[in-house]
Amino acid sequence: MPKIIVIGACGQIGIELVIELRKKYGVTEVFATDIKDECPALIANGPYQKMDIIDREDIREFIISNSIQEVYLLAALLSATAERKPDFAWKLNMEGLFTILDLAKEGYVKKIFWPSSIAVFGPTTPLDNTPQYTVMEPSTVYGISKQAGERWCEYYFNRFNVDVRSLRYPGLISYKSLPGGGTTDYAVDIFYKAKEGVPFTCFLSENTALPMMFMDDAIKATIDLMAAPTEKVKIRSSYNLGGISFTPKELAEEIRKELPNFNINYEPDFRQAIADSWPNSIDETHAQNDWNWKHTFDLKAIVKTMLDKVKIS
Ligand code: NAD
Ligand code: SER
Repeated sequence: MPKIIVIGACGQIGIELVIELRKKYGVTEVFATDIKDECPALIANGPYQKMDIIDREDIREFIISNSIQEVYLLAALLSATAERKPDFAWKLNMEGLFTILDLAKEGYVKKIFWPSSIAVFGPTTPLDNTPQYTVMEPSTVYGISKQAGERWCEYYFNRFNVDVRSLRYPGLISYKSLPGGGTTDYAVDIFYKAKEGVPFTCFLSENTALPMMFMDDAIKATIDLMAAPTEKVKIRSSYNLGGISFTPKELAEEIRKELPNFNINYEPDFRQAIADSWPNSIDETHAQNDWNWKHTFDLKAIVKTMLDKVKIS
């Protein structure tokens, strides 16, 4: 049984990842860790440790003394928050990655998952069905940190045989935990307003198409990639993961099929420029061919599930 740690476990992805990893490997095998004082109720059934990924010595001591074999490193500032704090975003998004890559290089950690993002692409990238290998000139500090991280992951694999695996997640849609400061967050926020029965003001314009995915698919992709035999994982920078693609207008129309009185208006802010620099849709052929990836949730299924599951206080 691998001993696993999820760093950044209290976030949108972390909570759901911890739940699924504990189902697969056992509750006591999966440490949830985060900088937050309180462990969210959904993952309070197992071990939790408050930890700051920037504290290199603390992390090293914890991982070595607990014989941790697998690390899922999720702690990061997302695109919108990172634009407000570019210096800190670079520090947080890069330093923790080096700490974990070095632990694997030294033989303490056997396998690493580190998420990248569609933010690695930029305004000069082909917008539609963006290929795995293409022009990448990210224009956000978040995208620059993810692209640099991808290069370092591939470098540590080639140079030091570090088993590091990565996905370029699209925008993720979930109901168990809220998103943490990204440009795709509107696609979660909208469901809370729809269920409350009040109009939604969208911070992106109506025809802004972005790649998106339901969290269940993203978690499955993560677990599938980590379980894939080493020889099947042919890309060690990060795999494109596309899911589906839709605009705020298309999402609102799908919600209106369930809630005909739902209203949306548009007031684009600084996040519009970020979204405009990202692809409309992503080609995920490499993930399909290398480790049999296939997403399950289409737009209709996402809308039905979100409207059913989102709880308003
Ligand atoms: P999130 O903001 O919801 O969660 C991040 C978690 O990291 C938070 O619980 C936060 O408290 C924790 N954290 C912050 N600073 C920390 C520190 N110094 N030490 C330890 N923990 C710290 O983010 P998320 O959406 O769960 O994203 C997780 C990863 O996936 C990030 O690397 C992100 O870039 C990537 N990603 C997310 C999406 C998405 O749509 N959610 C898309 C692409 C990539
Ligand atoms: N959902 C993320 C964001 O908007 C994409 O990496 O920042």
